[in-house]
Amino acid sequence: MNAVTPAGTPSGTPPLAPPLALLAELTHRCPLRCPYCSNPVELTRVAAELDTASWARVFQEASALGCLQVHLSGGEPTARRDIAELVRAAAAAGLYTNLITAGVLLDEAMMARLVEAGLDHVQLSVQDTEPGSAERIGGYRDALPKKLRAARLVREAGLALTLNAVVHRQNLDRLPEMIALALEIGAGRLEVAHVQYYGWALANRDALLPTRAQLEAATAEVQRAREALKGRLVIDYVVPDYYAKRPKSCMGGWGRQFLAVSPAGRVLPCHAAESLPGFDFPNVREVSLRDAWENSEAFNRFRGTGWMKGPCRDCPRAEIDWGGCRCQAFALTGDAAATDPACGLSPDHALLDMAVREAAASEGDFTYRVMGAAPQKA
Ligand code: SF4
Ligand code: FES
Repeated sequence: MNAVTPAGTPSGTPPLAPPLALLAELTHRCPLRCPYCSNPVELTRVAAELDTASWARVFQEASALGCLQVHLSGGEPTARRDIAELVRAAAAAGLYTNLITAGVLLDEAMMARLVEAGLDHVQLSVQDTEPGSAERIGGYRDALPKKLRAARLVREAGLALTLNAVVHRQNLDRLPEMIALALEIGAGRLEVAHVQYYGWALANRDALLPTRAQLEAATAEVQRAREALKGRLVIDYVVPDYYAKRPKSCMGGWGRQFLAVSPAGRVLPCHAAESLPGFDFPNVREVSLRDAWENSEAFNRFRGTGWMKGPCRDCPRAEIDWGGCRCQAFALTGDAAATDPACGLSPDHALLDMAVREAAASEGDFTYRVMGAAPQKA
């Protein structure tokens, strides 16, 4: 598909290529209550979720727009009773289907239905390798044995499996065990994903930020394992923002490669953008995905480099990291157009050092994710 430059896009905006992937957030419902959940603090209730037919239309529109794959996510996507129908609709649209799941609801019958519907890949999250800690972090009983059962079912079905280990201060010391677990369950890829501090995770930052010593040990362990396991296991690993000198290219740049649709149908440049104030995000109930991608003010606002202020505006990395993460910039400075404080050139970079010091002095209690109730401490 050719790149286009829609009318009315700001200067400094490169020609628009189609998005590579759609993140379909099918629901915010989830049996787990992870304190680092990337869902917004205001969770969408079931009555407001898009129905099966609307999602099927979204998948067709995503494919027509040029998307190659869909990540079926949540919340917990298998909490939707129509999950197999949704996989079937995505596969029928020609999309590569990846189920992002906590795995605790995945039994033989559901696995058979998903395979029959055309599922290609499963990304299974793990909270820890120590059962009691896994239970505490996810706020869910017997989580680990259920996940191991899910991994076995995925492999027996012949599907590709990625293990997603979300790491933070309370489990990072068990990284060697997580690598061993990935091998044991037959995963082809391990994502060692440091928590990103927006949504619920920001509320729990003091309990989750790793120490520098932990980070250095983990980075060395990843280097060792990558060497030793070449050809057996691919390990994805990025140094977390709070210890980085330059920011990550979040989403590959705002509105450049990626779009998400929320459970209620809002079209977003990233999964966390719903928390940004002052945006009128388009909704698939009212506009097509193409219209949202190409023409909406929300997508165009931070596209390219024309919106940047100093120090990004004159920086040689402006088209490499696109100024970092808009959601993190807002979460830390209150200004979504600011340079991401993860950048050492940002005037707000000291905020990160301060957060690391505060976290080191904290007790480590969690505020669990809840729907429609006051946050609870552990
Ligand atoms: Fe990236 Fe802006 Fe920092 Fe340059 S100043 S490295 S563009 S965040
Ligand atoms: Fe929203 Fe980075 S998570 S732009």
